[in-house]
Amino acid sequence: MKVGILGSGMVGQTLAAKLVERGQDVMVSARSPEKVAAWAAGAGVKVGSLSETAAHGAIVINATKGEASVEALRAAGEANLAGKILVDIANPLDFSRGMPPTLWVSNTDSLGEQIQQAFPQAKVVKALNTLNAGLMVEPGKLAGGDHTIFVSGNDPAAKAEVSRLLGEWFGWRDIIDLGDITTARGTESLLPVWIRLMMAFGHANFQFKIVR
Ligand SMILES: NC(=O)c1ccc[n+]([C@@H]2O[C@H](COP(=O)([O-])OP(=O)(O)OC[C@H]3O[C@@H](n4cnc5c(N)ncnc54)[C@H](OP(=O)(O)O)[C@@H]3O)[C@@H](O)[C@H]2O)c1
Repeated sequence: MKVGILGSGMVGQTLAAKLVERGQDVMVSARSPEKVAAWAAGAGVKVGSLSETAAHGAIVINATKGEASVEALRAAGEANLAGKILVDIANPLDFSRGMPPTLWVSNTDSLGEQIQQAFPQAKVVKALNTLNAGLMVEPGKLAGGDHTIFVSGNDPAAKAEVSRLLGEWFGWRDIIDLGDITTARGTESLLPVWIRLMMAFGHANFQFKIVR
């Protein structure tokens, strides 16, 4: 499958490398392609502009900084997103006052909703924003993969497809469908807890597990 990943930071590179290992045709966006050229060549990942990357993907993943996501998606081009699944991994973290960051949108709105509102023809599925990049692509590294991720979105078929792909690509087994895109308020609000757990443990190799 052709996958377009907007952003080539920690999340973009981690997902891209694993997806290539899984046989997918992956392009990441980079504003300074020379910075990621050596890594991309080694990993077998294509590099393009935001619009080239969105056009490349049959499915598009938003792995840009939360505060820049809507702007980056606009540059990616509404037409290149229309009708496609857009997996949104970004978090609305404000680091301007240092650690721990605060959320610049919460409670009555979320970044996932803002993206869906700005791009009504994209099928936004909020997913994977509640855990570290390394675990996103290799859940089996921790507790045999017995832990939980969430999907939020307005399109049930898109959520089902993302859940299926996350199982096929990375081995995810416990994926809870929380409901429409407003439920992204819940998963984005897990970040203040996640960050304090990371500060307490001194590492990011932990995960939420919903016992039920
Ligand atoms: N790191 C994690 O484990 C983790 C886990 C869950 C969720 N997330 C979320 O996933 C997203 C990516 O995280 P990350 O750790 O990969 O961050 P990162 O390493 O800081 O990378 C951020 C990416 O956003 C891009 N970007 C920033 N401003 C941009 C703009 N105006 N236009 C286009 N692209 C822009 C950067 O592009 P340049 O390289 O060109 O600057 C870079 O590729 C964030 O929203 C984060 O909250 C991260």
